[in-house]
Amino acid sequence: RNGARVERQPLARYTTLGVGGPAEVWFVADHAQLAEAMETPYRILGGGSNLVIADEGVSERVIRLTGPLAERDLEPDPALSTSEEIVTGWVGGGVPLPGLVRTLQKLGLSNLEGTVGIPAQVGGAVWMNAGTRYGEMFDGLHAIEIVTPEGVRQVSPTDLNWGYRNSGIPRGHVVSRVRLKLRRSTPEAVLAKMDFADQARKGQPKMKTPGCAFKNPGGVSAGKLIDEAGLKGTRIGGAMIAPEHANFIVNLGGATATDVHGLLTVIRQRVGVPMELEYELWP
Ligand code: FAD
Ligand code: EPU
Repeated sequence: RNGARVERQPLARYTTLGVGGPAEVWFVADHAQLAEAMETPYRILGGGSNLVIADEGVSERVIRLTGPLAERDLEPDPALSTSEEIVTGWVGGGVPLPGLVRTLQKLGLSNLEGTVGIPAQVGGAVWMNAGTRYGEMFDGLHAIEIVTPEGVRQVSPTDLNWGYRNSGIPRGHVVSRVRLKLRRSTPEAVLAKMDFADQARKGQPKMKTPGCAFKNPGGVSAGKLIDEAGLKGTRIGGAMIAPEHANFIVNLGGATATDVHGLLTVIRQRVGVPMELEYELWP
């Protein structure tokens, strides 16, 4: 054994929705531990901010990146940096994105400020190219390290077919570390852009939620479509379609995954336009 800490735990504590039954959680701190954890069927858990996990839990191992895989080296690489742009050292997939975005602002480094307010880990945010109208993860990437059961490889964003809420990286391929590509700016200028992007969040609910349920179909706000179907405030058990923004389902306390699935079905039945789910449902 390579020494990963393994514990059976309720996954609810790792999700922003606060829902999810137990699983065997593997806390992996390096590549050897990660390789061992990937020897049998596994799932990879980031910040848990886009997941609806079954109340029964999941049978596969659940991998979480910790230790050095949750650390960051933001020193500019002199060989790859210029007076305008820098390339950082490695930033672990387990690093919390909000803290990283704040630190980059203080350093006056631009490109990722549009992702302000996204409660993800770097690996999860890269895997689905999280973003807002003001910017996305792929605006600030130089290289991505990907681990699969076959081994480790490094790719450049240009090698991937990425787009809106999609990195092109297959599910189950682990984003273990990335190197960032950032533009030199000033803390004040980055803060101003961050504040602007943050304004768009003022109408989002403050309760426990896994973010937007559906991707925007063809650029139209899914929230607007669900709202127009008259569904704001619809409740099943402890889950409710948020009165503030209809693409958010919130946990009023005591919600179950079944309650959330019920609301997703109601939305699909009532909204005439086909919409692709943004959340991931486990299992
Ligand atoms: P998780 O939810 O843990 O996992 C999601 C998927 O990513 C799973 O398939 C998981 O296996 C995979 N994954 C996680 N880590 C890795 C890794 N290291 N390597 C490979 N795969 C991995 N999203 C937006 O895009 N824009 C927003 O504005 C936004 N606002 C939000 C606001 C709130 C209040 C909340 C709760 C969520 C919001 N989200 C938003 C959704 C969510 O934050 C993003 O989808 C985010 O990218 C999920 O990252 P995570 O680390 O939490 O991943
Ligand atoms: N609207 C309504 N009713 C609603 C919700 C929205 O009429 O219930 C209207 C708004 O008034 C506005 C328009 O729809 O005119 C767009 O709304 P908003 O600005 O909230 O943007 P969105 O398209 O609904 C997207 C992302 C969010 C991101 C915001 C801000 C998706 C699926 N959603 O929402 O991302 O935070 O823009 O940039 O792309 C997420 O992906 O999880 C997420 C929260």
